[in-house]
Amino acid sequence: MDTVIELTDVAKTFTRRHRRGRSLLRTRTTVRAVDGLSFAIGRGEVVGYLGPNGAGKSTTVKMLTGILVPSSGQIRVAGLEPSRQRTTLARRVGVVFGQRTTLWWDLPLRDSFQLIRHLYRVEPARFARNLDRLVALLELGSLLEVPVRQLSLGQRMRGDLAAALLHDPAILYLDEPTIGLDVVSKAAIREFLEELNREHGTTILLTTHDLGDVERLCNRVMVIDHGRLAFDGSLDGLRSLVPARRVLVVDLAAAGPPMSGVEVVRVDGPRQWIAIPPGASAAALVAELMAHYDVRDLSVEEPSIEEVVHQLYAGGYPGTGAARGTGGSASPAR
Ligand SMILES: Nc1ncnc2c1ncn2[C@@H]1O[C@H](COP(=O)(O)OP(=O)(O)OP(=O)(O)O)[C@@H](O)[C@H]1O
Ligand SMILES: [Mg+2]
Repeated sequence: MDTVIELTDVAKTFTRRHRRGRSLLRTRTTVRAVDGLSFAIGRGEVVGYLGPNGAGKSTTVKMLTGILVPSSGQIRVAGLEPSRQRTTLARRVGVVFGQRTTLWWDLPLRDSFQLIRHLYRVEPARFARNLDRLVALLELGSLLEVPVRQLSLGQRMRGDLAAALLHDPAILYLDEPTIGLDVVSKAAIREFLEELNREHGTTILLTTHDLGDVERLCNRVMVIDHGRLAFDGSLDGLRSLVPARRVLVVDLAAAGPPMSGVEVVRVDGPRQWIAIPPGASAAALVAELMAHYDVRDLSVEEPSIEEVVHQLYAGGYPGTGAARGTGGSASPAR
């Protein structure tokens, strides 16, 4: 693997000073936002970076750009040390923070892009080429003269993406790029990112709470919790961590008490949800139910990735420590 991003035992500690009650004494608390993180990302990978609120995702991204200096450990991005070689690195990297625009609020998009051209010293011909391409792909043509503050969230996000890519970075960090967007805007952005990776081989690290982003884009996921890596592997690997919690959804002719002899996990009128025991065949279960109940319709629900991640965060199932299954590894919270 041609490694472009590498973290070795990276930690980041923040100190918070605060007064306790009316006392004049200040107390300090330290937060270990990132706590001994090691991973490597290869050229052209699209990696989903997941974790609950406060897990340390944005802190990681900020260290990768050089905005924050790690408290300990080593970071290498494109062969450079981000905090020491931030300006050089900035030419190789694009960043989008979904929660905060990098565009100038009062300027039309076009002027923001021009400012970025100067900041990154992009040669005019290359800039013109990139701008044309990005405007077409992100459908920004009719928005170029509009001040950023008048753009909708989805339009602004497309503007931010273009801004991050005008200088052709080989690496793109996206911190919640689809936050707050409607389904159509999300789809447009996902499609764009997929194409960017396919056509240009751009390496993408994608922080998101939207598992649709991950399912659509990422061949690898890392789950971080309390600043530590809780999982690193394929989406299927992540799914397989959860003991097969497949569920049979049964529509009966009429509402009734929970069916007997099976584990009913939920009842809603004539619809009942039945846990399919690990290793059991759904067909046998179906045959059994059909023999005793007036079943009108059936379907099997696979465990959603959302459920899997939720359980990983909660640390609430035994698989986390032991399971080192298909293409993934998980480590228990210490
Ligand atoms: N500048 C700071 N000063 C003090 N504490 C901070 C600072 N930045 C982050 N933290 C703390 O570090 C921890 C990790 O924060 P971070 O923003 O990296 O989380 P996150 O995974 O991005 O969460 P979210 O999903 O909510 O965006 C949190 O406990 C946060 O309060
Ligand atoms: Mg964050």
